[in-house]
Amino acid sequence: MTVNNFRLTTEAGSPAPFYRAAGPEVEIFRAAARRGSPVLLKGPTGCGKTRFVEAMAHDLGRELITVAGHEDMTSADLVGRFLLKGGETVWVDGPLTRAVREGAICYLDEIVEARQDTTVVIHPLADHRRELPIDRLGTTLSAAPGFQLVISYNPGYQSILKSLKDSTRQRFVAISLDFPAAEIETEVVAQEAGIDESTAGSLVALGNAIRNLDGAALSEVASTRMLILAGGLVAEGLHLLDAVQSAVVEVLSDDPDVIRGLGELVDAVLPRR
Ligand SMILES: Nc1ncnc2c1ncn2[C@@H]1O[C@H](COP(=O)(O)OP(=O)(O)O)[C@@H](O)[C@H]1O
Ligand SMILES: [Mg+2]
Repeated sequence: MTVNNFRLTTEAGSPAPFYRAAGPEVEIFRAAARRGSPVLLKGPTGCGKTRFVEAMAHDLGRELITVAGHEDMTSADLVGRFLLKGGETVWVDGPLTRAVREGAICYLDEIVEARQDTTVVIHPLADHRRELPIDRLGTTLSAAPGFQLVISYNPGYQSILKSLKDSTRQRFVAISLDFPAAEIETEVVAQEAGIDESTAGSLVALGNAIRNLDGAALSEVASTRMLILAGGLVAEGLHLLDAVQSAVVEVLSDDPDVIRGLGELVDAVLPRR
């Protein structure tokens, strides 16, 4: 379901999203939720941050309101704005305001360094006040029980930490996710792509070989998401090598030399045709 610029990712009665924990993240998140503490989730793109939050919202029985981060996100994108509707000006709550009113989890997904005007609304919500000032309405809302702020980012490119005041930062519980150990990632890839464990294991071995390269030539790493995409092509009947070429190698680079180098790595790691 899509509402304006944000997404409702959990709906009543929907099945639990599959999330395979790799460490103590589930227990940490549950404890933070009981305390109403905001959470910072760090980790590379495609490692399972969004899936984790979806699974936790389901686990806690909370509504999840997700806001996809973008560079020029303003406080109005979060809090709301006046819109013209049929000749009348009406106030429309933004996703953060809805979450505050309803006691939902508000997930700011892949946030780049926050602008001054967005940190102004995040600070009083994240600290002991748990309130949201809405200047344009001249009101301040107190967060309903169950409201929780979750912010994810990729520390490889960005750090929202720089834009938060120290006193606010210290109130966040930080959870660091990464690509999981090979046996866990194999389970995830097999399950999500619908392929056997041995094919999934080959994909994960390739993923790890690529991650161990001297990263300079690659702007992205081979993520769990990419391995699942390749696995999905295999499930559709493609040969493993063709799937890997299309879903991993050609996606990671446009440079012919880099593509050739990755091809050699694929030959070394994957079973031949
Ligand atoms: N631990 C995990 N358990 C279950 N699925 C996972 C896990 N890690 C990654 N995935 C899968 O990888 C995909 C990408 O993960 P996602 O949560 O979108 O990554 P991120 O938000 O970190 O970019 C998910 O759609 C899911 O299929
Ligand atoms: Mg995500």
